Amino acid sequence: MAFTLNDVIPWGRNLAEYNAMFDLSEEDRQLSILGCGDGPASFNVEGTAQGMRIVSVDPLYDIRASEIRERIDATAREVAAQLRSNRDEFVWTHFADVDELIATRLAAMERFMADYELGIAQGRYVTGGVSDLPFHDHSYDLALCSHQLFLDSEQHNLAFHLQALRELARVADEVRIFPLLELGGKESRHLPAVMMALPRMGLRVEKVSVPYEFQRGGNEMLRIIRTA
Ligand SMILES: C[S@@+](CC[C@H](N)C(=O)[O-])C[C@H]1O[C@@H](n2cnc3c(N)ncnc32)[C@H](O)[C@@H]1O
Repeated sequence: MAFTLNDVIPWGRNLAEYNAMFDLSEEDRQLSILGCGDGPASFNVEGTAQGMRIVSVDPLYDIRASEIRERIDATAREVAAQLRSNRDEFVWTHFADVDELIATRLAAMERFMADYELGIAQGRYVTGGVSDLPFHDHSYDLALCSHQLFLDSEQHNLAFHLQALRELARVADEVRIFPLLELGGKESRHLPAVMMALPRMGLRVEKVSVPYEFQRGGNEMLRIIRTA
């Protein structure tokens, strides 16, 4: 059976993975960045420690730390089981095996948990959803969205994706989305229609290769730039 996950799941990658997934240059890292759907990733805490300006937005931040931790534990068990059953959908070069991947992800999420209360107090973790972002127009130079859109193409239709991308492009001058695959490893069923529709909204859109591949074939991001 192909890899599936039913609900919103807390699962977090680290700064090195974000750098690779979005091919972030030194210039990119100077920009004001919105991380949409960052969940319990350590991107924010690690980047902030390096002087980056990052705000993360996610519905998860409405939840108490103890409850997030419980959900992470349950998710880790489910993800480990699914990875073991679907090993061939993934490229095992960066991570030697499932145990190493799970340990890396849990370490990233521990860093997030240790920063959670401070990050909320500093306004770095903001509760909100991608369809209606709680920010003014042009608030950020760059919005990044990892493993939230496209991945769940079965659950979320084309209209949801177009609204989300329009909203991200409203609050940020440039938007990058990774990956472009659905759970199960196929290219998102919505991608062709998204690429046709965005130019009609005054948005330039291109697929860009990145130096990261974990889902087999998933080494491209979508780059969206407002032209009007
Ligand atoms: C698989 S996790 C990815 C976390 C992180 N971006 C990473 O790559 O490590 C998906 C995240 O999307 C968040 N999410 C779900 N629905 C969302 C929505 N409507 N708007 C923003 N984030 C959402 C979940 O709460 C979860 O934290």
